[in-house]
Amino acid sequence: MEDKRLAGKLDYSDIDLKQWKEYDDILTDSLWLLKSRQHTDGHVFDYHGNFIPQIANQVFRRYTREGEIVIDWFLGSGTSAIEAANLNRRLIGLELKAELVEHVKSKLPVESVGDAIRLVQADSASDDALRRVQTQLAGMGSDFAQLAVLHPPYADIIKFSELESDLSNCSSTDDFLAGFKRVAKNAYDTLENGRFAVLVIGDKYCAGVLDPLGFKCMNVMNEVGFKTKSIIVKNIEGNEKAKGKNNNLWRYRALKGGFYIFKHEYVIIFFK
Ligand SMILES: C[S@@+](CC[C@H](N)C(=O)[O-])C[C@H]1O[C@@H](n2cnc3c(N)ncnc32)[C@H](O)[C@@H]1O
Repeated sequence: MEDKRLAGKLDYSDIDLKQWKEYDDILTDSLWLLKSRQHTDGHVFDYHGNFIPQIANQVFRRYTREGEIVIDWFLGSGTSAIEAANLNRRLIGLELKAELVEHVKSKLPVESVGDAIRLVQADSASDDALRRVQTQLAGMGSDFAQLAVLHPPYADIIKFSELESDLSNCSSTDDFLAGFKRVAKNAYDTLENGRFAVLVIGDKYCAGVLDPLGFKCMNVMNEVGFKTKSIIVKNIEGNEKAKGKNNNLWRYRALKGGFYIFKHEYVIIFFK
């Protein structure tokens, strides 16, 4: 039988290690200074708080093979779904806001919706979401997904809706972490053994004190069973609508308050 390692194949990626010098554009350093948001291949910047497409592109190519299934537990404007279609990955995307699910549908190739790309309007922290994801997986001929993506609200930094189960409406960081833990558990239970999960998250300030949401959410992921593989620090240039004239104000506030303005967030890689 062919030894996969000798043949240069990985179990979880189409990267051919025999050609490893040819993958110049696959990042392997823990500091990602990405110059600008990708606006091609179906990607548009139409949602406050969406991640830049390069994150999905990097992790899909690194941690999945063509045809495999990604579950995005916080679909938002569907960046991961568009990239899954571009890279011939299948995807189940969950999002609380019904109108957003419809909007994402309209941005995807018609033939992929309901087949390779399945969108579920649900509270990702619920048992109902778990059951519906399992139904979708069964419909795709699989018991488990091969990659989990989690890009939750950064607690209450951006309020996404008025809905009670929206994690951006939690009344405290502890409540937020409790809700996030239920999503992380659903993600763990639906992921194939030996495969990867990606958490995209930033920290926040609260009354002049840093609240390290990134590390707290990483701990929650560990508590439900995920093991941490890498912490990547990524710049947030291109993530936000231009702050323009507010930039100077923030600089003034930072100088006055003795703090530093966030220019980074985390992309944290886990495995099961
Ligand atoms: C940071 S955004 C995700 C952005 C996404 N990665 C993109 O590129 O568009 C977080 C999303 O989680 C959704 N959300 C909040 N609470 C949720 C919950 N309990 N279940 C499902 N989605 C939720 C929000 O409506 C929001 O769209």
